[in-house]
Parts: sequence; C-alpha cells; structure tokens
Amino acid sequence: MRAGLQMARGLEPRVGQGTTSPTEAARATIRAFTEHDVPAAAALFARVYPEHGWTSQAACESYFREMLFDNPWRDLQLPSWVAEEDGNITGVQAVMPRPMRFRGRPVRVAVSTQFMVDPDKRHSLTALQLAKACLSGPQDLTLADGANDRSRRMWIGIGGTAPLLYSLHWTRPLRPARYVLSLLEGRSAFPPALTLAARPLAALADAGAARLRPNRFYREESELAEDALDPPTMLAHFPDVLDGNALQPVYDARSLAWLLEQTARKTRHGRLRARAVRDGGRRLIGWYLYYVQKGGVSEVVQIAARDGSFDRVLRRLLADAWRHGAAAVRGRLDPRYVQELSDRHCWFRWGHSWTLVHSRHADIMAAIHQGDAFLSRLEGEWWLRFLGG
Ligand SMILES: CC(C)(COP(=O)(O)OP(=O)(O)OC[C@H]1O[C@@H](n2cnc3c(N)ncnc32)[C@H](O)[C@@H]1OP(=O)(O)O)[C@@H](O)C(=O)NCCC(=O)NCCS
Repeated sequence: MRAGLQMARGLEPRVGQGTTSPTEAARATIRAFTEHDVPAAAALFARVYPEHGWTSQAACESYFREMLFDNPWRDLQLPSWVAEEDGNITGVQAVMPRPMRFRGRPVRVAVSTQFMVDPDKRHSLTALQLAKACLSGPQDLTLADGANDRSRRMWIGIGGTAPLLYSLHWTRPLRPARYVLSLLEGRSAFPPALTLAARPLAALADAGAARLRPNRFYREESELAEDALDPPTMLAHFPDVLDGNALQPVYDARSLAWLLEQTARKTRHGRLRARAVRDGGRRLIGWYLYYVQKGGVSEVVQIAARDGSFDRVLRRLLADAWRHGAAAVRGRLDPRYVQELSDRHCWFRWGHSWTLVHSRHADIMAAIHQGDAFLSRLEGEWWLRFLGG
C-alpha cells in the first residue's frame, strides 16, 4: 500500500525544473523494448554518454543486442522498456532477468541497467514513467548496483530503498606508497613526470613495508593449495559457499559460463583471474575472482567461501594480488564478512554508486537490509561493459 502511494506520488509532475513541461512529457509512450529499437537506443546512448568507449555505433548496437536479447536469462515477461515520443526513442530502461532463490523458493529478479533519458527531455515525467514500468513488472525483486545519486533519489521516491551495506566498498592497500601515487595519478594532482619519477621511491618504501607485520604477503599457509577456477567447479560448489544466505543466485552451466566469459571481456580493469582455494585434503574451501592490475587497484568480482573459511580465502587473494604487482585490492562489501575484512586492514567507504532494491515482498527487503543476501558484482550490473570496455 505504501509503495503504491509512493508510486502515485512518483508520477506527480515536478514543475519548473527543465526544458520539457510535464504536459509535453506526458505524451511519451512507454512500451517494451524490441530488437527494432536497438539502433535508436544505441544512438540515444551515444548522446547521453558522448565519451563512451565504442569504436562504432554498430559495435554498441551489437552489445545491446547481445545483452538484452541473447542473454541466457531472457524472459519475455521481464522486458526492457523504451519511452517513445513522436516516433523517437527518448528514454531507455534496460532490464536483465536473473533467477535467484529466497529461503529455498525460486524468485525472479529484474536487474535494472542503462536507465537513461534524452538530454533534451530531462526533468519531465519520462524517467519516472520508465522506472515505474520497470518496477511494476511481475518480478519479486528489482535490483540495480551502479546507480548514481539522481537515480537513487528517484528510486526512493517511488518506493525503493538504497541499502547502504551493499553500497559500501572495501580497499586493502598492498603497496601503500604505490597506492597513494596511483591515486594522485588518477586525479592528475601532480605533473605526470613527477609521479613517474617518484615510482622507484615508492617501490623501495613498499618493499620495506611488506617485510613488516602485518604486511607479510611472502608468507602463506603451506597446507593450502590453489588451482584455476572454472564454471563447473563453481557450479558444483555453490551450495557449499552460498549456504546460510537467505537470497542466493541460481546458475546453470550455460548461464555461468556465459557470465564469466562476459566478465573476462571487461578488460579495462585488467585480466580476470579466477582461483579455487583448497585445504590440505584437496577440499575446496572457497574461491576468488579479481582483475589483475599491476601498479594499480585490482577490482574484486567475487569472493566465496565455506563457513569459517573466508579469512583464509581472503588472505590467499591478497597474497596473489601482491605477487601480481597490485597496489591495492578493492571489492564490494559482503556484509557477513565485515569482521574478517576489518581484521585484514581493509578500509570501508561508500563506493560512489548505489545498490538499489525494490520488492513488494517485505521479507526479501528485510533480508537484504540485514545483509542476508549473496549479491556479488556478478549478480547485478557491475560486470556489464556498456561503458568503457
Ligand atoms: C538518470 C536520468 C534517467 C533521470 O532522468 P531525469 O529526467 O534527469 O530525471 P528527473 O529530473 O525527471 O527526475 C529526477 C528527479 O525527480 C525526483 N523525483 C523522482 N520521483 C520523485 C518523487 N516521487 N517524489 C519526489 N521527487 C521525485 C528525483 O529526486 C530527482 O530530482 P533531483 O535530482 O532534482 O533531486 C537522467 O538524468 C539520465 O539519463 N542521466 C544520464 C544517464 C544516467 O546517469 N543514468 C543513471 C545511471 S544509474
């Protein structure tokens, strides 16, 4: 009921903000996104993100097609949406269906992505109409995990929430001096020649720091072993590592292989490295997936571990990233492991993008707000590469 009221409030016109009056905007028709809309959606994308990384419009169109119409979870009841005005596409709300399980029962999740409105049609009803169309589908949960502040405000206005726990990130500097340099380089705070000249000094300082406690990445637990992680291994062990989460993703061989292949193509973060961690008896205790980024920040895609093994898997990840030259490792918080991450000197910060959720099921919303959901960067939209390859 409350969500319904908020939804109604969400469709109230907001006057005096932009270039299009609410009366004009009300002419937008919201309908399901079809394959014929792909060229217009890609053209809109290019207007909304002029700095996008696509080499051609055709490449962008092909990615839209692949993600929205050829993904393994396609569900005609959970379509993407477009706003159309006078025969033109003026807004898009893309949706990627994902199957999950909540306390044992199957649930349908709609992952919201590529929410955009033509720059000439902003501050009208179009964005709200699109968001409302998406949220009012038959899914049990709607999820976005790369939302900006404007989308968050709108989402909350129409009955969704932004669980802070799933919007927090952790960072573990491995080479503190190099990490500080990479931050300065990223912000162009100093002339590049200066930061380049400082690299050997930073390397010296980091080599010394690594020999001091607690930065001893040389030392490893000798009884643990690692090998390459492949989709069949993950599939076979999901029940062990997801155990205890109220909300769990559901994969099959095809969808998991497809997802990992797509994730590996997101090369702007580096090369994807996926490792299984085993104990002395060769029993799998968990795994980690991250992008190797020498001299920079390695982004973690997923850490999964059996009950009681997270710390050991985390330590293996940190040691591996250190050996591959990472200045720091960064991941999204899995709320169950705040203690372990904190004990390993990880810093927590809001990560400049929001995870947003909306569900008519109070128990699903409550579970997420209690941190009782397995939502890694593979489960939302983070792995997609609409922007920047
Ligand atoms: C995000 C985007 C689609 C929003 O469209 P928009 O036309 O700019 O949005 P609007 O101005 O109509 O609506 C957003 C505003 O309505 C407000 N709003 C929405 N529903 C509301 C409600 N029920 N009650 C009160 N306020 C509400 C929001 O808070 C926001 O206002 P503010 O930014 O002034 O605080 C558009 O800005 C865009 O395409 N941006 C570029 C792409 C992008 O960033 N996409 C989002 C990625 S997560």
